[in-house]
Amino acid sequence: MTTTIPINLTLNGKARALNIDSRLLLVEMLRDNANAQGTRIGCLTGDCGACTVLIDGQVKKSCLVLAASVQGHHVETIEGLAQLQALQAAFVAHNGFQCGYCTSGMMVVAADLLRHQPSPSREQIRKAISGNLCRCTGYEHIVDAIYAASQAEVQDATR
Ligand code: FES
Ligand code: FES
Repeated sequence: MTTTIPINLTLNGKARALNIDSRLLLVEMLRDNANAQGTRIGCLTGDCGACTVLIDGQVKKSCLVLAASVQGHHVETIEGLAQLQALQAAFVAHNGFQCGYCTSGMMVVAADLLRHQPSPSREQIRKAISGNLCRCTGYEHIVDAIYAASQAEVQDATR
């Protein structure tokens, strides 16, 4: 039997009140109820990282989280993240995507990394994206892109 429940959360900095099926996964709620389709559904088993979001500033795979459990919490998706301009430009410049299916999850992880570690090493970048799968790029272009974005931000900060 379907039970509809009210849920209040902060999504990308804005208060949201939604009525949702109590069985929904967070990734389903984001896409179907909150117009945040940048969060992708891949494996639904926590393996691919396509559904990655930040919950209270922590990287989480939203297919492993019940939507009801984010009541009162802060959720950030690809649509709401700062730093995206530099990351997007770097992903384009360094061929950091091909089909693009993994890209929003990769960018969420990258944005979180750069928030906490503005000038990461390539090894730190590899570690940060190790929970996100890409079947197209071989990863090194993604590492190049995130590294370039970090260097651009460091240069901007010193101007
Ligand atoms: S859809 Fe969540 S990790 Fe793959
Ligand atoms: S660009 Fe296709 S899965 Fe990563």
